[in-house]
Amino acid sequence: MFGNSWFETVAEAQRRARKRLPRSVYSALLAGSEKGVTYDDNVAAFAELGFAPHVADLPAKRDLTTTVMGQEIALPVLISPTGVQAVHPDGEVAVARAAAARGTAMGLSSFASKPVEEVVAANPRTFFQMYWMGDRDSMVRRMERARAAGAKGLIATLDWSFSNGRDWGSPWIPERLNLKAMVRFAPQGLSRPGWLFDYARTRRLPDLTTPNLADAGQPAPTFFGAYGEWMGTPPVTWEDVRWMREQWDGPFMLKGICRLDDAKRAVDAGVTAISVSNHGGNNLDGTPASIRVLPGIAQAVGDQIEVLLDGGVRRGGDVVKALALGARAVMIGRAYLWGLAANGQAGVENVLDIVRGGIDSALLGLGRASIHDLTPDDVVIPPGFTRALGADF
Ligand SMILES: Cc1cc2nc3c(=O)[nH]c(=O)nc-3n(C[C@H](O)[C@H](O)[C@H](O)COP(=O)(O)O)c2cc1C
Repeated sequence: MFGNSWFETVAEAQRRARKRLPRSVYSALLAGSEKGVTYDDNVAAFAELGFAPHVADLPAKRDLTTTVMGQEIALPVLISPTGVQAVHPDGEVAVARAAAARGTAMGLSSFASKPVEEVVAANPRTFFQMYWMGDRDSMVRRMERARAAGAKGLIATLDWSFSNGRDWGSPWIPERLNLKAMVRFAPQGLSRPGWLFDYARTRRLPDLTTPNLADAGQPAPTFFGAYGEWMGTPPVTWEDVRWMREQWDGPFMLKGICRLDDAKRAVDAGVTAISVSNHGGNNLDGTPASIRVLPGIAQAVGDQIEVLLDGGVRRGGDVVKALALGARAVMIGRAYLWGLAANGQAGVENVLDIVRGGIDSALLGLGRASIHDLTPDDVVIPPGFTRALGADF
């Protein structure tokens, strides 16, 4: 099925994912919200930044290793948690194996299709991601399960405001893949025989349930059932964040920060790390690209907590730009989802190899022997590029 399936760039992985997946499944991966302003800016902003390369006295060897939340990783790129990996029969387990094979950490969404126990078995460097949903007791039970499974850290994602609707149309996703849903889905599925064939071989249907949100002995809620619980939960407060942080006695990341004042509140809440992020442009449309708000935040809190970035990373050069502007590491979302859709575990490894190669080549060009040596002088920042949100706090 996957003859000559190696691809050269993330853009090519995306083309293959689009060709291979049924339309609604591809569209669920693409995501984005409203007009797609933030989605577009996340990628466009990286292209606005340039490099200032040297041509001689370049380092023969480059060091890409670092640590994030206590875990040593072979490159400064982690798997960002995403909730729709049922695009492939092995889903999150394939991604976890690929991340382990390339020496990096895996963020596992609480909306994942595979149980945390299986994912940690495939990659011990797993961080479990949670939203503020349900009551405190159920959140504690979910954390305890992740801890018992061996998760090495917790990611609390806060940036979600239930925006719905995309100008280019939202995909139809069934509540359950039963016979009725399959009949409706059939025309799309039949136009993508390779994808259907892969599922047919497993004798299982794509799993639209969320096993990590189930209570012990209870069936896994459906994706939409869980989403309903989330919508019905009162919005999170900083007091809640402090409470959540206290429940997890290990490394704790807040994901979704884009303002300086919120970054400082995160420090006060005792977090280990933040990811400067706008949920990959899936949340409040019109939020600036995460790379535009990174420099101010990194400058303000980078000496107190680990500052990561996610959103719009499609190549190694993007990673180097983010590190030069103060990120310790980045997390990728769509890039690996497209790799997974295009070629399973090998496709995710392929994406990580592409990104790794790009980082290495940018370091060579910039004359930097280590990712830790990067500084803002390595990049060309056009006037008016950055945004300082919440600077007067
Ligand atoms: C299809 C999809 C599902 C996602 N699901 C989650 C999720 O369950 N939890 C979470 O914290 N972030 C989720 N995200 C956001 C990613 O973790 C990450 O912030 C974003 O994808 C980064 O942008 P990029 O896709 O441009 O790399 C999702 C993103 C996408 C595209």
